[in-house]
Amino acid sequence: MNIESIRKDFPILERKVHDKPLVYFDNAATTQKPKQVIDSVNDFYSNYNANVHRGLHALSEEASEAYEKAHEKVGNFINSEWDEIVFTKNTTESLNILAYSLGLDLKKDDEVLITKMEHHANFVPWQYLGKKLGFKVKYVDITKDGELDMQSFDSLLTNKTKIVSVIHVSNTLGTINPVKELIEKAHDKNALAIVDGAQSIPHMEIDVKDLNCDFFAFSGHKMLAPTGTGGLFGKKEAFEEMNPFLFGGEMISSVSVEKTEWNMLPWKFEAGTPHVAGGIGIGAAVDYLNKIGMDKILKHEHKLVEYALNALKDVKGIQLYGPKTDKRAGVISFNIADIHPHDVASVLDTHGIAVRAGAHCTHPLLHALGVEHTVRASFYIYNTEKEIDVLIDALNDAVKIFGV
Ligand code: ALA
Repeated sequence: MNIESIRKDFPILERKVHDKPLVYFDNAATTQKPKQVIDSVNDFYSNYNANVHRGLHALSEEASEAYEKAHEKVGNFINSEWDEIVFTKNTTESLNILAYSLGLDLKKDDEVLITKMEHHANFVPWQYLGKKLGFKVKYVDITKDGELDMQSFDSLLTNKTKIVSVIHVSNTLGTINPVKELIEKAHDKNALAIVDGAQSIPHMEIDVKDLNCDFFAFSGHKMLAPTGTGGLFGKKEAFEEMNPFLFGGEMISSVSVEKTEWNMLPWKFEAGTPHVAGGIGIGAAVDYLNKIGMDKILKHEHKLVEYALNALKDVKGIQLYGPKTDKRAGVISFNIADIHPHDVASVLDTHGIAVRAGAHCTHPLLHALGVEHTVRASFYIYNTEKEIDVLIDALNDAVKIFGV
């Protein structure tokens, strides 16, 4: 990977923040966009902006073709068919679609198994619907190292479990979960298996056929695509079985007073005018990532994590969370003595460094670890070891300012 040439593709990396070069370590929240993605969106709005699938005119044909092509690119990217890919606005929407579409069919005795590591997007919808509809939601424990407790998983999975929904990579700790094994166990009990792939698809090769998951939810904006983009993979038979949750234009084939019939896949789940430009942007992002190679991206991030963990452990008062390097993607959460994470983030900001500080939409995970909030640095393809050195200097500055 030639990081210097990759960095040249990202216009924002030229800018200064508080007169310092930008060090962007908030990639788990959203990534920066290369000019190839920005240009694809610009090209759409400048040259063929139109709604898709409706107008029988040249612009609409061109827009429809590009939008469908983007589904195909994403499908190839994770080894699925193009019509097994539904575009949504983010992972949160994808997971809510699943919770409502599948959850509304669950009965009182049914069980849904999730984990205490979930992002709120895969936690709250099941908890809310379980309370409303009467099905039971169970929560897999985590270990003190921030990994899933497999014994807890095994003991909570029963013949009543209808759905298992797990996070692939923790957005707070970076833990890479053994989802293939969990999916197999779920299938042994005839349960559907859902993977929240928001933090895995940007960083590693995903093969949904090999994983054998029924559904895989992801965001586009965390993998170089525009904000407001995401997707949901569903196995054809699972999508065909499932009722839609969002109703309206595009998702029907016919409507009468007597009955409504759904459109073909994937449009059955894409009600209303979609984010056409964003979808085209995901296609361009996938092209960009393919050119680099996902195996190289994971290796690069492992190298950065190893370097960072090694350097961070010497910062006075630091408490690091999460598993060892080989079990984590490019995310590091930490606290420094009793300095509030927001204060640490503010000091880092004065050095031009962007991190996230808070609970990262994972209150149950932090409760399980006995922590209220953390500072989180998350890496991507354009980050360097030199930037980690800048982070360490800035943290030492915070230590001095707050008298640790
Ligand atoms: N879910 C995103 C994060 O973890 C926003 O930062």
